[in-house]
Amino acid sequence: MTRIRIHVPACALALVAAVAVLATGCGSAGNKEKAGVEKIDYGKTREGVPIEQYILRNAHGMVIKVITYGATLTDVRVPDRDGKMASVVLGFDSLDGYLGTEPYFGATVGRVANRIAAGRFDLNGRTYTLATNNGPNHLHGGLRGFDKVVWHAALHPSGGEPSVTFEYLSRDGEEGYPGNLSVSVTYTLTSQNEIKLDYSATTDKTTPLNLTNHAYFNLAGEGAGTILDHELTIAADQFTPVDAGLIPTGQVVPVGGTPMDFTTPIRVGARITQVPGAAPGGYDHNYVLRPHTGLTFAARLQDPASGRELDVFTTEPGVQFYSGNFLDGTIRGRSGIPYGQHAALCLETQHFPDGVHHASFPSTILEPGQRFASRTIYRFSVR
Ligand code: GLA
Repeated sequence: MTRIRIHVPACALALVAAVAVLATGCGSAGNKEKAGVEKIDYGKTREGVPIEQYILRNAHGMVIKVITYGATLTDVRVPDRDGKMASVVLGFDSLDGYLGTEPYFGATVGRVANRIAAGRFDLNGRTYTLATNNGPNHLHGGLRGFDKVVWHAALHPSGGEPSVTFEYLSRDGEEGYPGNLSVSVTYTLTSQNEIKLDYSATTDKTTPLNLTNHAYFNLAGEGAGTILDHELTIAADQFTPVDAGLIPTGQVVPVGGTPMDFTTPIRVGARITQVPGAAPGGYDHNYVLRPHTGLTFAARLQDPASGRELDVFTTEPGVQFYSGNFLDGTIRGRSGIPYGQHAALCLETQHFPDGVHHASFPSTILEPGQRFASRTIYRFSVR
């Protein structure tokens, strides 16, 4: 395994501004590793393609790990209210886990995240047929979505903060989608303990597009029980109801007075058994964020026991709250503990599912000559 130290930007920044030295704590005792980015060989795919891992550290000791396979966020390590670090996302410690069957742990999902009914859509007078990999429907980009391809990593300076960009060219016809799509996602670890995700895409033919990250959070620590006692707030007064196949009916209905209402903080488990039509049990719904332009507050997740807190901000119109319903204990992650139902939850910022079939939903269509740009921030803190 080769380790290459790439750069140490946060301390360099601190030299420029004395204030930043205090703010970042660069060089402070206890920071065994310096802020920056480290690149590690992470093994090879079954076809023999080398995979890289990038370890991003900030001056507070927060660490995130991302790999070129699926542009996947494999680990997030943050302190609790006593300063004790834990890994707060589900994942594996080696590539093997990601190459096997697993439910998109930390992956970048596309070309179209979530479901497309019947794996078919009409665009510009043509019918496009996609893989039906979720019952009769298409899910998360198909059999070999963006989570299962190898991205190219590039390091760009990002205002002195540890950052890595993953780029991928999705060819015309790949998984049935039209157009050569040039897509990138930049992970930046900020000095405010934020993971900043910047997505960008251009195409040479009209195509649907919906990108998200599929991190599974458990703020008590990966493998430390369920998220049922986490408290959740979602800044949404409405959600998009779904049919039995989790395809939106096209309605947008108020959450008020229903178990879907997270407009004020409430335990995830408080009403989880009352969620309408949820088999095998729990939340798996798109929430309609309040109208906004630019970045908006989307959700807050709190773990009263550890004091860890996660705030989600996004430019996207929706967020899929998925309460880990399909986790069934068959997968063991980095702790070796089986991931059972509700071992973690996802807050997948996105355009609404199946948007290509609902003219009333925000458009998921990208045209040649346009650039898709989207930002999501996961900010960690303690209380
Ligand atoms: C999304 C979907 C869920 C499930 C997970 C992956 O969150 O909405 O229904 O498919 O991905 O298991």
